[in-house]
Amino acid sequence: MISRKVNLDELNGGESGAEKDSQFSTYSARYNIKISNYEFPETEMDPRIAYQLIHDEQSLDGNPFLNLASFVHTWMEPEADKLVMENINKNLIDIFEYPQTDKVIHKKLVNMLGRLFHGHHTDFVGTSTVGSSEAIMLGLLAHKWTWKNSGRGNGKPNMVFGTDAHVCWDKFARYFDVEPRKVPIDKKTLSINVKDVEKKIDENTICVGCIMGTTFTGAIDPIEDINDLLVKIKKDKGWDIPIHVDAASGGFILPFTEPYFKWDFRLDRVKSINVSGHKYGLTYAGLGWLIFRDAKDLPKDLIFSVNYLGEFEDTFTLNFSRGTAMVVAQYYNILRFGKDGYTRIMENVLNVARGLAQQLEDLRANDPKKSNRFVILNRGERLPIIAFKQMKHENYKLVDLSHKIREKGWIVPAYNLPANADETEIMRIVVRENFTAEMAELLVNDIEDACNFFDNGGKTVERRHAVPEEKAYPLC
Ligand SMILES: Cc1ncc(COP(=O)(O)O)c(C=O)c1O
Repeated sequence: MISRKVNLDELNGGESGAEKDSQFSTYSARYNIKISNYEFPETEMDPRIAYQLIHDEQSLDGNPFLNLASFVHTWMEPEADKLVMENINKNLIDIFEYPQTDKVIHKKLVNMLGRLFHGHHTDFVGTSTVGSSEAIMLGLLAHKWTWKNSGRGNGKPNMVFGTDAHVCWDKFARYFDVEPRKVPIDKKTLSINVKDVEKKIDENTICVGCIMGTTFTGAIDPIEDINDLLVKIKKDKGWDIPIHVDAASGGFILPFTEPYFKWDFRLDRVKSINVSGHKYGLTYAGLGWLIFRDAKDLPKDLIFSVNYLGEFEDTFTLNFSRGTAMVVAQYYNILRFGKDGYTRIMENVLNVARGLAQQLEDLRANDPKKSNRFVILNRGERLPIIAFKQMKHENYKLVDLSHKIREKGWIVPAYNLPANADETEIMRIVVRENFTAEMAELLVNDIEDACNFFDNGGKTVERRHAVPEEKAYPLC
């Protein structure tokens, strides 16, 4: 059935300008359709046309494979896709209706991650979440409650974390009324340092955040030093201050590539860890994990018991309903790859990243000295994230370069570093599993062509929708 033509003038009470509020879609003449940008459609549409229309509307989106701005994984095996589709209609909160998914799969995954992070239980407290942001907020809420229950300090609660933390840390501070005490990053290491952390701590500190792979540059905070500091503070002053580890990216890499690096529950002060399943856990978007060291690290007040769905069940996530598909997809990956597979995949990703960093470093300018074009700030040594800045002042900025290579489909963000290094503009490339050494070579060629374009007098394009620089934030 083909829908009747909607007369938008009629719809909008004959208002002039209604034409402007509508858009013609592809094949609109063939199917006789016009869609309003504001009004709910009056009539039905044939499913084939609805599909075609939406499909076409998305055709100007970037290609996820060339999206090197995002940490989020974009490809799974057909068997995983099949499981995803088999689970697309199940709600994870319906634990009595879907006991296998909850009691067997979800519970098992929480325990497997707890053990991967060197906890010792057989019954970890933790949960899947929509992503790392929700996991971080839940972890920090738990620490806020523990601080409140402890009676330590009677000022406004604060938390200490780097200026390079993901925006979800600031969101938590604002949404849940906690003072953010931000530690400026060290210009050399691009992470926070323990001396600056110490200056910000007092009896009202609910928690210190340590990041295993910052969003800005992929830097790793000096967590062992910070742990030692907090152990000492506990001994000297009796303040029991926990660390929440934001291992959004690192949590599915470091256990495999650096098994002896202590960043997890091997450190005394680490009480909670988040990791994104949808980043290097290799599922599609929509999955994070929060794991507590011990059951006592999640205050009982935060757990609600409800019986809407048949029997009493405990819930402590921010959202009630959630799909099961990504949890099952995570289970698939873990069974499918095991530690060996994850190690092989992550080492390969690191090798590709390091090769790419080397090629970028080797790029030479067209000047008589043939000087390097870029200084590499992170060369994918520990996490497959490459950050680089221009060697010298050029007649174009990295944001122009980013814009130029977008013409070839590459999505590579450029932005300024956070406080203490905010005068530095960088470009960041997140290397994911589907990015090959061959693609790295093509990318470097396109970056070089774009640099040559500007060197030869090519003009930077004025960006109509440019974000004010102070608001620019790297994608996750
Ligand atoms: C270090 C870090 N923490 C938290 C997040 C937020 O993760 P999500 O997008 O899963 O909510 C990101 C996203 O990139 C991140 O890099």
